[in-house]
Amino acid sequence: MGKFYITTPIYYINSVPHIGHAYTTVIADALARWHRLRGDDVFFLTGLDENSAKTLEAAKERGFKDIQAYADSMANLWLSTWRLLEISNDDFIRTTQERHRKNVIELFERIRSKGDIYKGTYEGLYCEGCEAYYTEADLIDGKCPLHLTRPKWLKEENYFFRLSKYADALLKHIEENPDFIQPEARRNEVVNFIKQGLKDISVTRQNQQWGIDVPGEPGQKIWVWFDALINYLLPKKYWPADVHIIAKDIIRFHCIIWPSMLLSAGLELPKRIFAHGFLTVEGQKISKSLGNVIDPAYLVEKYSADVVRYFLIREVSFGQDGNFSEASLEARLNDELADILGNFVHRVLTFIRDRFNSRVPEGKVDRKLEEEILQRVEKIERLLLELKVSQALDEIMAIARRGNEYFQSCKPWEAIKKEKEKAADCILSCVNLVKILCVSLTPFMPEAAAKLAKQLAIEVKHWNQAKAFDIRPGHVIGEPVALFAKLKKAEGPKEKLISIEEFGKLDIRIGRVLAAERVPKSKKLLKLEVDLGREKRTLVAGIAEKYAPEDLVGKNIVVLANLEPAKLMGVTSEGMLLAAEDEAGVSILVTDRPVKPGSKVR
Ligand code: MSP
Repeated sequence: MGKFYITTPIYYINSVPHIGHAYTTVIADALARWHRLRGDDVFFLTGLDENSAKTLEAAKERGFKDIQAYADSMANLWLSTWRLLEISNDDFIRTTQERHRKNVIELFERIRSKGDIYKGTYEGLYCEGCEAYYTEADLIDGKCPLHLTRPKWLKEENYFFRLSKYADALLKHIEENPDFIQPEARRNEVVNFIKQGLKDISVTRQNQQWGIDVPGEPGQKIWVWFDALINYLLPKKYWPADVHIIAKDIIRFHCIIWPSMLLSAGLELPKRIFAHGFLTVEGQKISKSLGNVIDPAYLVEKYSADVVRYFLIREVSFGQDGNFSEASLEARLNDELADILGNFVHRVLTFIRDRFNSRVPEGKVDRKLEEEILQRVEKIERLLLELKVSQALDEIMAIARRGNEYFQSCKPWEAIKKEKEKAADCILSCVNLVKILCVSLTPFMPEAAAKLAKQLAIEVKHWNQAKAFDIRPGHVIGEPVALFAKLKKAEGPKEKLISIEEFGKLDIRIGRVLAAERVPKSKKLLKLEVDLGREKRTLVAGIAEKYAPEDLVGKNIVVLANLEPAKLMGVTSEGMLLAAEDEAGVSILVTDRPVKPGSKVR
């Protein structure tokens, strides 16, 4: 088998990972896992683009003086997210690493020695978000089409890269290698752009404090994109990459600048660049300011890594734009993973356990079914070679659907009463379908597939196991367990909401703390004497780990006044102090001016 080197973009660390990043990374991971299963020598690289001016800004914003310490903390966060999502990358590159700096300098010098880097003055419109210069024609209403901000006019003395020199060679390469840029729409976009003519680009920046120095000229930093693209050269023995997976936002960097740099340096070009579409969240662009950045870790905790992986790959036809919504994720979990896949697998395995004492029965395989399924597996293989991941997963689910139909049509639970052989034939074919599902799902949902392999009592070692009905009579299976728990249908919004009358039942009032002391022998509890306007009350609150008694006296707190009294460590609490809680502990609610004690909160 061959080598397979696959990459994702290296992500900026000014923000946290969201499902857009997870989308690219999960897809690259499924492809990497599939090639490993085929026996290919795989290298899967992902990592972080840390030398951006955005890093410096974000670090300062968050009060870090040590920028590298900020970068390290973000690297931990990104890595832990990828671990949660079962990402099986072989290396994790960070552009602040010395090994990367060395590669960058080496390539810069190599291109310079070819006469393709020269000094000049640059003047133009610069988008700080993209860290790139634009021409008027690139802008929409004078704004950067990606960041919707007005670029600044910048004039600098920089080093330039002779991009213009490579336009013809690049066009020729794209023409001769129709798979080089995919999908086709993106390829056409790139071709049209090159045909309009390429200008040389500045590849260094003046007056920047963060980034890689141009050798011998500390006043000049290497442009972050020139620097970042070189990350792909890290595993030298695997170059050229078999595929760079990116999204459509960064095709010009990957399909024009990067190949031109490589042509200049005399290195091979990547074999394929696949630019997928963009995900929205509930129909909107993912953005910090819209507050719709979904943390993949939250989704993994709620639904499991496999369900999130399945949804991301399955929901959007790879290459198209798509939308993320938790409601559609839940629908796919219930309707596809639980009802189709989980149901089929569980019916077959429990039947073997209950009716055949966990032993696959003697019988005859349905040859027609076998042929049909093996053809489907061939199709899955073809689709995966063409990077059509969502379609491949769809085809796998079609096998599960076919399995359910088959099981349903031969009714083994009835046949077993009169025609035991018929039931045995059916089950022998079905258990082979379950095995094929197990093998073919391994790259997509590694945890569920491993669970299933255990139930089947098989070891998944090679993709070829998906190409045979080789579970034989007599094979003893393990204990069947449900693979996916179905979520209860979310209650309609009416049932979840409460009426204003219901809210009115809560008597919430402002209280002023008159005195406070620790409850003896308790680490957590404080006893408060509170003025509630017409009356004084004693409250017991579990806030002693965060507040000293003297911090509270005189404060206006919020009290649920009509709560049944309760005794805590021997002290009766006549109401409840309201507080919020997060990882940092509790925080009491207070009013922002000294409201009169006893005032009602509505
Ligand atoms: N640092 C550069 C890439 C340098 S690669 C040499 C960068 N970083 S980024 O953090 O902005 O990541 C961009 C990539 O993240 C996209 O190309 C895509 O892979 C992924 N996505 C970010 N938002 C996305 C969506 N909303 N939808 C799908 N993918 C998204 O650009």
